[in-house]
Amino acid sequence: MGSTDPADLPQDRPLIRPHVREEPSLRTTPRASSPRRYLMCPPTHFSVTYSINPWMDPTKPVDLPLALAQWEDLRDRYRALGHTVDLLDPDPALPDMVYAANGATVVDGRVLGAKFAHPERAAEADAHLSWFRGNGWAEDAVRVPEHVNEGEGDFAVTDSWILAGRGFRSSPLSHDEAQEFFGRPVIGLELVDPRYYHLDTALCVLDDAHDEVMYYPGAFSPGSRAVLARLFPDALIATEADAAALGLNAVSDGLHVLLPQAAVGLFEPLRDRGFDPIGMDLGELLKGGGSVKCCTQELRG
Ligand code: ARG
Repeated sequence: MGSTDPADLPQDRPLIRPHVREEPSLRTTPRASSPRRYLMCPPTHFSVTYSINPWMDPTKPVDLPLALAQWEDLRDRYRALGHTVDLLDPDPALPDMVYAANGATVVDGRVLGAKFAHPERAAEADAHLSWFRGNGWAEDAVRVPEHVNEGEGDFAVTDSWILAGRGFRSSPLSHDEAQEFFGRPVIGLELVDPRYYHLDTALCVLDDAHDEVMYYPGAFSPGSRAVLARLFPDALIATEADAAALGLNAVSDGLHVLLPQAAVGLFEPLRDRGFDPIGMDLGELLKGGGSVKCCTQELRG
């Protein structure tokens, strides 16, 4: 009878074939940006008058002209990079409307409207739906949602999956609704830290065509962390400090990554992977609990 001791097996063939993966820092394929279409809403009426996340302190004053200038910088930067920016009219009764990412999710030209968790933001959903109806989207391409979902705050799109946050805002039921509507597999991820109340505060899609992301594991439940590690073994893992600067609330076009400039630890790892990180100052909008990504809804054709 032969020995079953692994030490007696031929040494030139490992028992388990190791996964051969391209080292992110050694990648030779150059990054490429693809033109995007974004929907934004100017912070004309931005203020922090209520608190629905731990970043919001209504006693802290907001410098409105500065908020506007910071937002205009972001809008102009997108345009300078060759992207299209459409604008939504701000409503004086809706101070959080600047966070346009929350108003809908658009994939393959189909629009899943939002349904907000908090009454303070509820009316934003209709403003977004009317915008789509008035701007060329066919009625059957637009779905008024049944379940609570806060748009791209909790839905992130890669080539293979739609990643979907839950735990604070979007209902787990909205994940099935999105899967059925978009016909793409939806992966539910449980958020556990109130500072990272939306998925887009804890995870950012860097290369949507190749399922590449960066995220902060501490924002997720142990099970969801394991799911992320399995789906994205090569992900850029953010430190607590960069996550706390809302560094993951970023937007990538495949090459340029626009992110809060205070997330200083992310720049080098992004460059190592071939991305071109661009630091933005959205300090006034951080007072409402949002940054680059929150202000940007992507309209995917
Ligand atoms: N004050 C807003 C809220 O709590 C901020 C939304 C930020 N948006 C985002 N996509 N994470 O709802």
